[in-house]
Parts: sequence; structure tokens; C-alpha cells
Amino acid sequence: MKNIFEANDVNIAKAADVIKNGGLVAMPTETVYGLGANVYDAKAVAKIFEAKRRPNFDPLISHIADFDAIPEYVETDERIMALAKRFWPGPFTMVMKRKGENAGVDLACSGLPTATVRMPNHPVALSLIRKSGVPIVAPSANLFKTVSPTTAQHVYDSLGEKVDMILDGGACKVGVESTILDVSSKQPVLLRAGGTPLEDIEEFLGEKVLISHGEPDRPSAPGQLLRHYAPGHKLRINAENPMENEFYIGFGDRDGDLNLSSKGNLCEAAANLFAYLRLADKMAGNKSLAMAPIPENGLGLAINDRIKRAAHD
Ligand code: TXA
Ligand code: MG
Repeated sequence: MKNIFEANDVNIAKAADVIKNGGLVAMPTETVYGLGANVYDAKAVAKIFEAKRRPNFDPLISHIADFDAIPEYVETDERIMALAKRFWPGPFTMVMKRKGENAGVDLACSGLPTATVRMPNHPVALSLIRKSGVPIVAPSANLFKTVSPTTAQHVYDSLGEKVDMILDGGACKVGVESTILDVSSKQPVLLRAGGTPLEDIEEFLGEKVLISHGEPDRPSAPGQLLRHYAPGHKLRINAENPMENEFYIGFGDRDGDLNLSSKGNLCEAAANLFAYLRLADKMAGNKSLAMAPIPENGLGLAINDRIKRAAHD
């Protein structure tokens, strides 16, 4: 594991040089680990797709560290800036109108007329972005369609030495990806439930947000394919009780072989979700997996979204 480095100042500076020189760095964020590259370097962006074995139609999020570093390739407005001030840094991504011409940006955005931006709430990611001096585009640092990584070791297990440096910043606190809100037109649309609760966004905007139920073949957040986040074993969800020959992932009072949160805390459950899916995969042997029902509010929306996809066959 010679490419895992403790995320101290010296190694973050080294990682920034890797980014500037067109390499790939896996960085911790508060949601999941991201596989980062310089957005303006088309070759580096292409390497991300290659490493993830991700089809090129799936666009990437630009990560920034400061409000005065909002990329010049997006169009902002008052509502966007108000949302940014309220929810950044944090697990919140906005789809905005795109402008200008740049090969790297174009590839990162899969040629779409929009671009996504977020400011992660993690000191290592923020420091790396500042030292690199460019927006860092980063998808989750795992192979396409597999469970997202919430530790440096997960990144290594999935991508191995295809990453130049993996910065180890410990386990991700939020544990599910950012909420994606499309604000490129008048009606805000939720494209992906995530670490920022929908309720908070609606309360702030003072209006209902449309929820996009991405069609499987033409998902509106193109990465939201029906089968995604897939563990190796078959998974049954909303299971009130385990059946014989099932490895049971519990929640709250419904205890099991593992419990996402015995206190029934949805934030704790989200933080554990991906690591427990991996763990269950390792522990289940010839059993299949079943998971207790998760309430559909707060971070439960994101958890249920991910496990529905993980359970799809
Ligand atoms: O929490 C996160 O968002 C993590 C960390 C690393 O920041 N990143 C992440 O990236 O989850 P990724 O690439 O695994 O998921 C990004 C999603 C994909 O489903 C992609 O299709 C969607 O965002 N997306 C990106 N740009 C888009 C755009 N212009 N319009 C619609 N969807 C977009
Ligand atoms: Mg992903």
C-alpha cells in the first residue's frame, strides 16, 4: 500500500504537486473519498474515467475551497449564492449553467451545458484544493457501480495503484454522497438525495423542491443508474426480520449481525452504511443480505436511495 499517505501538511503539498502535474489524488471529504484531478487538464480528467472504468457520459463534480474561487465556467445568481452561503462547506452540490470553452471542463461535464460544484467540509480536501490552485474534479474513488469508499483502505481495495496518492484522513463522517440540487433553471430539482437533508433545503428556499425519479435508462443525474452501490451478495431491503440463511443488517431496535445504529440515529447509520455493506459482503459467506427498514426522513432519504440501488438486480 505504498500509495496511502497520512494527510499531513507535507503530504498534502506533495499531493497538490501531483494534481498540478496531471496526476490523480484520492482525497477524503466529509461524504466519501473522491478521486481528484485538475479540471483544466483534459488528460488528467480522462484518467479518472479510465481508473474508475466509468462511461464517459457520467459527469463529475468540481470541488472548490473558497467562495471567491467559484469556477469561471459556471453562471451564478442570487439564489445560487444564497444557497452556497447557507450550505457550503458541506454535502451539497449544485448543478449550474455552464459557459466558456475548455477541453478538460468539457470532458468533466460530459459535454453537458451544465456543471456541478460543491465545497466539501473537510480540512484535508480544502487544503489540497487551495494548494493546487484549481478546482478539483472528483467522483467517488471506487470502481463504477460499486460501493463508495469511506476510508483510505476502501479506495486502495477498489483502485489499488491506479491512484498516484491516497491521502488518508480517516473515516468519512457523513458517509453518503452529497445532495445534488439542480438550480440551472427556475424550478429547483433534487437529482440525488444525500448528506444535506431535503427538508433543510426546502425550509431555506421557502418552497417545495421537485424530486427527480431518474429513469433508469436516462437518469437525470446520469450516475444514478438503477443498479449501483452494489455489494457482491444479493440484498433484500425493508426486511422486518431476517429469514433463514440471511445475514441481517439491523437498525434501531431491530438488531442483527450488524446494526447501522442501535440508537436509531440516521446520521450514524449513513456514516456506517457503505463500510457495513462491505463488511457484510465479507462476513455473509453463502448467506444473502437483508436490511431492516430505514425511516424515509432526514438522511434516511439518501440511505434508502442507495440501498434500493444496491438491492436492484
Ligand atoms: O459527496 C459527493 O458528491 C462525492 C464527493 C467525492 O464529493 N462525489 C460524488 O461524485 O459522489 P460521483 O461522481 O460519484 O457522483 C456525482 C453525481 C453523478 O451521479 C453524476 O451523474 C451527477 O453527479 N452529475 C454531475 N454533473 C452533473 C450535471 N451537470 N447534471 C446532472 N448530474 C450531474
Ligand atoms: Mg459515485
